[in-house]
Parts: sequence; structure tokens; C-alpha cells
Amino acid sequence: MGKALEGVRVLDMTHVQSGPSCTQILAWLGADVVKLEAPGGDITRKQLRDLPDVDSLYFTMLNCNKRSITLNLKSDEGKRIFTELLPRFDVLAENFGPGALDRMGFTWDRLQELNPRLIFASIKGFGEGPYTHFKAYEVVAQAMGGSMSTTGFEDGPPLATGAQIGDSGTGIHTVAGILAALYQREHTGRGQRVTVAMQHAVLNLARVKLRDQQRLTRGPLNEYPNEEFGDTVPRSGNASGGGQPGWAVKCAPGGPNDYIYVIVQPVGWGPITNLIGRPELAEDPEWATPEARLNKLDKMFQLIEDWSIGLGKWEVLEELTAHNIPCGPILSTKEIIEDESLADNEMVVKVDHPERGEFTTVGCPLKLSDSPVDVQRSPLLGEHNEDVYARELGLGEQLAGLKAKGVI
Ligand SMILES: CC(C)(COP(=O)(O)OP(=O)(O)OC[C@H]1O[C@@H](n2cnc3c(N)ncnc32)[C@H](O)[C@@H]1OP(=O)(O)O)[C@@H](O)C(=O)NCCC(=O)NCCS
Repeated sequence: MGKALEGVRVLDMTHVQSGPSCTQILAWLGADVVKLEAPGGDITRKQLRDLPDVDSLYFTMLNCNKRSITLNLKSDEGKRIFTELLPRFDVLAENFGPGALDRMGFTWDRLQELNPRLIFASIKGFGEGPYTHFKAYEVVAQAMGGSMSTTGFEDGPPLATGAQIGDSGTGIHTVAGILAALYQREHTGRGQRVTVAMQHAVLNLARVKLRDQQRLTRGPLNEYPNEEFGDTVPRSGNASGGGQPGWAVKCAPGGPNDYIYVIVQPVGWGPITNLIGRPELAEDPEWATPEARLNKLDKMFQLIEDWSIGLGKWEVLEELTAHNIPCGPILSTKEIIEDESLADNEMVVKVDHPERGEFTTVGCPLKLSDSPVDVQRSPLLGEHNEDVYARELGLGEQLAGLKAKGVI
């Protein structure tokens, strides 16, 4: 079967996480993604290594289904080879610190001159303005995009989330931008620039907190468990703060992930009162309606926890789902990596690697009926130099010399 992005070629100059998470999705959708690395390689090949002298899981889990070439873009010969490569690609993707590509001599004007159909995708920390020139990492984006100030408990400090919304979240946004630009090129024949700032991507994901910031000007946020409100959206622990109240309640035997997240929809209250052994609360006017419960959500979840603490989280799941009550046990990373349904859905995937042996990675969350994903291992550094430089550019005879001079 074909692939959605068959025929699309991506020159991938991304590094660390945000950019590689984007181009890995493009590769899974069928694009030919050629990762262009400085001869020393993407820094993450060596970061957080669990095995000596072998590409780290950090790298192997973000660079599947790509090819790798090396090129020193600070050398004149490297720059010349780059100008030959560029017209052969549809997309150039990068997430260097601000201005790095310009300093190499490849401004947007120059790139357009070399390939007017090029889609040039850049990830930066920030948009235009006072922060433009700042570098950024995951939690910096979480801090400045509205996530950290709204995550955690009100009596504790701001918290980072474990999900990498600043890096991989930005990567996904960038995929959308690139696909839209490819589609528009069908009509205009022209490439364009796609820029995504990590701060902007996090803010997009924290959109509901700006909703609540505006609601706050008209009074307290009753759906929040907090008792006092200032002039800013407070951290609200595990409350969703949305239309239906939810909370993580403890289960047996009381380990760090023995919790289940329970949402109490209006229709769920009757069955819950039966399960927790308090059927009288279903009709009690003090408890019967969502409005009546709103000022005592903490007490409501305490009643549920008094019941759930005597059962394992999987038993609680069974009991609640039997009554169609939305809930989710808190799964540890160990439980996730061993979860059969995630493996069956090809979301936890085993991949062979010539140097590290088998490793587990996270599969593609986009499931297209006509474009199945086959997860392939990440490339070794420069593994495809010959494919690209010799077969495509006809530089076969010069390869050894280019390597000796440190150009590739
Ligand atoms: C992530 C980040 C903070 C890392 O900073 P860093 O390690 O200092 O790396 P930079 O991207 O700033 O710089 C890369 C350098 O490698 C050089 N380089 C990259 N590819 C090269 C190549 N093929 N050949 C030669 N040099 C190369 C660049 O020219 C640059 O050198 P310069 O600063 O002398 O111009 C920074 O890249 C950044 O802010 N990126 C944008 C936001 C982002 O994606 N954050 C990361 C999320 S995981």
C-alpha cells in the first residue's frame, strides 16, 4: 500500500526533540526524510546514554524511519554541496537557536533563490519581539506559555508537566503547518515559510486557562476546588476545571500510582452513590444536582475515595465503567510499556537496532486507513552518505576526500 506523503522529500536539519518529533511523523506518513547532521552528529546521539558508544534512546526514539547524512555547513565545500542538495527537496526543517542558518549564509531569501518551491519550517522558542533571540527548552516554553503557572497545587510551586508539550507539542503543530504549506503549494506553485514558536504552541494547548482568566473577572471559578481567588487563574491540582468535575482518588494498596481519575457527570451520580454505599445521596437535595455538589467537590471526591481506597485501581475501573462512568487509572510508565492494548495498537513498538539490539519506542498516534505506518529504526550517523552523495549527486569519487577533510 502507498503512503500519504510518498514523493515528499524532507531535508531534516532538526536536532534535540522539538524538530525531530515533527520530522519523524512526516517520515511515518511516508515522506523521505534525510537527516542532515554536522559530522559530529545530533547532540542527542550522545545524551542520556544507557549503553556505551551506542546511539541513545533519546535519539533512537525520535529519529525513526529517517536516513542520515553528514555535512559541515561551516565549510565552503559543505555550503556548495548544500546548494546542490536543496533543490531536490520539498521541505527544509530546522530548530537551531535563532539566526544559526542565517549565519551559515542561508537566509530565507537565499533559500528561496535556490528553490522557490521550498517549504522552510523553523521551530524557535519565541515569536517576534523582545524574546526573539532567546534559546528555549521544553520547560522554558511551559513556563512562558501558561502551563506552569496553572499546573500543581495552590499551596505549592509552579510545576512542569511530564508530557513534552513544549517540544513534541510544538513538533506536532509544525507538522500541521508543513502539511498546509504543501497543500497550498499545489495551487500556487510556491513554497513558503512555516514558523512555530514553542511559547505559542504551549499557549495554544493552555487555551482553556485563558478562557478562565477572562471568566475570573466576573467572579470566582466555582468548578475549581480552590476557595480563594485572586486576579489570576490558580493552580487547581487534579481538577479539570471544565464542565464536569473530576479528581484522582486513591486506591489500594496505596502505592504512588494507585489512583484512578474519576469524572462525575450528572448521570453518573446515581450509580456512584450506590457503588459507594450511600444511595440516599442520590435524592438528597444537598447532593442530588451538579449545582448542589459544586461547593463541596472536595467532600464528594472524599466520599468516592473512602470507597476506592479498599479496591485496586483495576477493580475500580471495572466497577465504574460497568455504569458508564468516565474514569482512568493512573498508569505508570512500567504499566504503559507492558500494556498489551497499546502494543496491539502499535503505540508501543519494538524495533531492532544494529548496535543496541531491540528497543521499545512509541509508535505513530495518527492512524490513516490508506497509509499504514511501519516503524523502522533510526539511522546510524552518516549511514546514507553514499546513497545521497554518490547516487544522487554523483560525488562517489570524492567521498573519501570529503570525509578526510571533515566536510562530511
Ligand atoms: C535547543 C537549543 C537551545 C540548543 O542550543 P545550542 O546547543 O547552543 O545549539 P544552536 O542551535 O544554538 O546552535 C547550533 C550550532 O551548530 C551549528 N551547526 C548546526 N548544524 C551544522 C552543520 N551541519 N554544520 C556545521 N555547523 C552546524 C550551527 O551553525 C550553530 O552554530 P553557531 O551558533 O556558531 O551559529 C537551540 O537550538 C534552540 O533554542 N532551538 C530553538 C528552540 C528549540 O527547538 N528548542 C529545543 C527543543 S528540544
